[in-house]
Amino acid sequence: MNDVKKGEKMPVSYERDIRPLFRQIDIDQMNKHNVFLDNYTYMADPSNDHGNAQNVEDSVTNQSMPPGGPYWRDEQLILYRSGEATDICLNP
Ligand code: HEM
Repeated sequence: MNDVKKGEKMPVSYERDIRPLFRQIDIDQMNKHNVFLDNYTYMADPSNDHGNAQNVEDSVTNQSMPPGGPYWRDEQLILYRSGEATDICLNP
């Protein structure tokens, strides 16, 4: 039932796809600043037009985060955005 047919896209999952984009140091440092990168409830919070997920996207897109890099590659940005549009907002 959960088999994904050839050519079908796997739905993006926060736990499987998005969370691994963050290094442990990202998670630990940002927890100190009340940005909970490893917390689905925080990341999927729909308030302020999914403001938490959006702020994270903005920070990696404008390369203010992580400070000094390594900055996210295009494929990481694209994956994050696909999760934001679909799954960060919907499925753990
Ligand atoms: C809402 C989004 C975010 C906000 C408001 C934010 C804010 C901050 C602030 C104020 C600091 C400490 C001051 C500084 O070093 O600039 C910091 C440090 C840091 N942030 Fe973020 N951040 C965000 C997202 C992220 C994301 C998405 C990542 C990783 C992909 C990240 C990785 C880090 C790291 C690794 C540090 C520690 C840098 C160091 O001490 O060398 N942050 N962040």
